[in-house]
Amino acid sequence: MSARGYFAVLWKSMSLFSLRILLLVPTGLPVHSQGDSQSDNKVMDNITVRQGETVFLRCAQGDIVTHTAWLNRSSILYAGEDKWSVDPRVSLVTLNQEEFTIKIVNVDMTDEGPYVCAVQTSSRPRTTSVHILVQVPPKIINLSRDLVVNEGSNVTLMCQASGKPEPSISWKLISPSGDLASDDEYLEIQAIPRHRAGTYECTAINEIDADVQTVDITVNYAPSVSEGRDIGVTLGQIGVMECEADAVPEADFEWYKDDRRIFNGFEGMEIENGDSLSKLTFFNVSEGDYGNYTCVALNKLGSANTSFLLYEVIEPTSSTLLQGPRAVQDGSGGVQGMHSPTCLLLLLIALLPLLLRI
Ligand SMILES: *[C@@H]1O[C@H](CO)[C@@H](O)[C@H](O)[C@H]1NC(C)=O
Ligand SMILES: *[C@@H]1O[C@H](CO)[C@@H](O)[C@H](O)[C@H]1NC(C)=O
Ligand SMILES: *[C@@H]1O[C@H](CO)[C@@H](O)[C@H](O)[C@H]1NC(C)=O
Ligand SMILES: *[C@@H]1O[C@H](CO)[C@@H](O)[C@H](O)[C@H]1NC(C)=O
Ligand SMILES: *[C@@H]1O[C@H](CO)[C@@H](O)[C@H](O)[C@H]1NC(C)=O
Ligand SMILES: *[C@@H]1O[C@H](CO)[C@@H](O)[C@H](O)[C@H]1NC(C)=O
Ligand SMILES: *[C@@H]1O[C@H](CO)[C@@H](O)[C@H](O)[C@H]1NC(C)=O
Repeated sequence: MSARGYFAVLWKSMSLFSLRILLLVPTGLPVHSQGDSQSDNKVMDNITVRQGETVFLRCAQGDIVTHTAWLNRSSILYAGEDKWSVDPRVSLVTLNQEEFTIKIVNVDMTDEGPYVCAVQTSSRPRTTSVHILVQVPPKIINLSRDLVVNEGSNVTLMCQASGKPEPSISWKLISPSGDLASDDEYLEIQAIPRHRAGTYECTAINEIDADVQTVDITVNYAPSVSEGRDIGVTLGQIGVMECEADAVPEADFEWYKDDRRIFNGFEGMEIENGDSLSKLTFFNVSEGDYGNYTCVALNKLGSANTSFLLYEVIEPTSSTLLQGPRAVQDGSGGVQGMHSPTCLLLLLIALLPLLLRI
């Protein structure tokens, strides 16, 4: 029978045909176990196709075929040349004595399932069923946002992904170090310490591909400051005090002399604030500058302070040395940096001309 003639017959027998098809393929299952001696049912290998690709469904004809159709579950896609499916992605490729091939372009997840080619020959019905398996690359669909938490909080990161086969999901702390990890959608960090701040990476992976996303965790904590040092400076020299703070968010600095706040722009001094360091500089230390200074570092979580003692160092000039040991004792704080043998030596050298004159 020519394809045209066959087509005409098909139209007439359409309703009968679909009834027969439904009988042949109850609820879309492969008819393998039907045990009908009158039919010849074949199960083909599964077809695995990636989402977005095109799949060809090919069915051998042979014998004298009176009717033929491709079905998706129990709904007819093509009955012979005649398209029943309203889906534009489905089209006829070949229909002749040998084969009946249709194609589905841009395959999607919902296309997964059993497809049946039902053939009615002059002698008996025959079905060929094939299962389409759709593979989908992983895609992270639900990810925790970047977080800012206080130290000690319980933190849970979440990463959910779609894909087929179902992707496996893992978490890793990638920056600063890679030691914290979890093979789960959820990463729970109890009482988060400051060194767990950083960039966390979620990986969703299956046989096809991987999807990777990152989340940043910022851990806030109150400042701590480096221990202040006592600083000896000679009158008229430069005196510098450096106060280093560790804090998130970055600390603000305040400087006090005794209980009095001091500000940038005061005569002869300058306060320079960097990210984690504050520097108090006296360009020309005067008598009144000596004393006890306190650096306070604060952020919204708290504060810390440390004190510096700016003390006078008496330079062993001839004039001070002339006053003898008294001057050295007066600057009691000041001799700390100087070894006594050196003092004696300098004293001798300074006094030598005097001694010689006597
Ligand atoms: C085809 O795929 C279905 C569904 O995943 C599965 O049950 C069946 O065992 C597979 N058959 C073959 C021949 O691989
Ligand atoms: C196959 O049937 C399923 C379920 O009805 C449907 O979602 C899907 O779009 C169909 N695919 C084709 C290619 O007809
Ligand atoms: C993401 O996960 C949250 C918490 O489980 C849930 O409330 C939300 O509906 C999810 N969003 C999406 C798009 O799945
Ligand atoms: C953090 O989790 C632990 C254990 O589940 C719980 O005992 C603790 O109260 C939680 N801390 C906070 C701040 O929620
Ligand atoms: C430092 O201050 C003293 C006293 O005010 C002044 O005599 C001296 O010239 C100053 N030195 C410098 C380098 O500014
Ligand atoms: C400096 O001042 C701080 C704060 O007022 C105080 O705790 C510290 O004992 C003082 N140091 C000296 C050496 O006086
Ligand atoms: C400095 O810190 C101590 C406790 O460490 C606190 O008692 C004091 O009030 C602080 N001083 C300032 C000026 O913040």
